Amino acid sequence: MSRIELNHITKIYGEPKRKGLLPEGVRAVNNVSMVIPERSFTVLVGPSGCGKTTLLRMIAGLESITLGTIKLDDVDITNIPPGDRGIAMVFQSYALYPHMTVWKNIEFGLKNARMPSYEISRRIKEVLKLVNLEEYAHRRPANLSGGQRQRVALARAVAKKPKVFLMDEPLSNLDAKLRSSMRTELIQIHESLESTFVYVTHDQVEAMTMGDNIVVMNEGVVEQVGTPLEIYDEPNCVFVAQFIGDPGMNVITLENGKKIGFRPRNINFVNEENVPKTDDCIIRGKILAIENHGSEFLYYVDIGIGKIYIKDSDRRMKAIGESAEIILKRKNAYAFDEKEKRIYGEREVAEVYESFRAFGNQL
Ligand SMILES: Nc1ncnc2c1ncn2[C@@H]1O[C@H](COP(=O)(O)OP(=O)(O)OP(=O)(O)O)[C@@H](O)[C@H]1O
Ligand SMILES: [Mg+2]
Repeated sequence: MSRIELNHITKIYGEPKRKGLLPEGVRAVNNVSMVIPERSFTVLVGPSGCGKTTLLRMIAGLESITLGTIKLDDVDITNIPPGDRGIAMVFQSYALYPHMTVWKNIEFGLKNARMPSYEISRRIKEVLKLVNLEEYAHRRPANLSGGQRQRVALARAVAKKPKVFLMDEPLSNLDAKLRSSMRTELIQIHESLESTFVYVTHDQVEAMTMGDNIVVMNEGVVEQVGTPLEIYDEPNCVFVAQFIGDPGMNVITLENGKKIGFRPRNINFVNEENVPKTDDCIIRGKILAIENHGSEFLYYVDIGIGKIYIKDSDRRMKAIGESAEIILKRKNAYAFDEKEKRIYGEREVAEVYESFRAFGNQL
């Protein structure tokens, strides 16, 4: 069991003017309530400064909470010191002791927990095997690669058998290739442990590939919680639609203030295979830029009312400056209101689509 419950968590940095008053500084986290399910791989994702680290540090007990409460398995831990919470945290900087070997680094935390020595060495062997570092037990951190150091930091946290693992951008110091192999390893480690993982990243690709529960944050609030598919297919607002995806959703504001959205992959150039049907929306545009992504091309197109991205695997290159006709099918259109919240009603979505279509016909 290791379910975390956040109730109206708010963090305001700074000192209050008088006792009993709220501080007047930055509201880094604003009234966040959610449940982090036990054994989930929950990823907090959002742009720089949105409050991810602050929220994670409050769960760890490293940061005081201005308002609200945190429960771990129905026990209120809001005022319990970090060491007594059964939570381990892995940081972006590995925070290893440089003068100690890999073995000693892992042993240190366990000795502090007053564990019998046979149990300590059994656990160290077990975690070194888990992170594939059995051969490196007697090296010092300076003689390891970045990825190996990160794995030592991970092993040290795993050895304590925490109920909850908190990780703050643990892979950001690694090169792209190592990062992707460490992602896979972390997913496997999560599978083999019975703990809850809470993982912070600003990288939506990392979030979508690793997490089974995604929490999208923006300016101190939680915008949406869901599985990667829910977040991608059913974003509840413009922010989530544009933050998730590479590139994010195209969102165009119409004359009436409502917005239409469509994924770069869900629109196509008109050609012999893609012949528009009568009720499709046809937009005309001019190609501004083309990026070759290997298996597909990313086109940046000016459609007058805005600029959009189109992802297409069609290798018949269109040239920059060329004009193009693009099809948007109704089933691929999303609608948002003036406040950038998703519109779900079928009739209202149809209205937004029709006004975009009417605009397309004028071009
Ligand atoms: N000790 C502090 N004192 C005052 N303000 C702070 C402090 N720490 C963070 N902040 C502010 O709180 C907000 C949230 O910061 P936080 O570090 O939680 O963001 P983040 O989402 O982790 O960003 P990043 O992706 O850049 O790490 C920011 O506006 C930041 O400037
Ligand atoms: Mg941070």
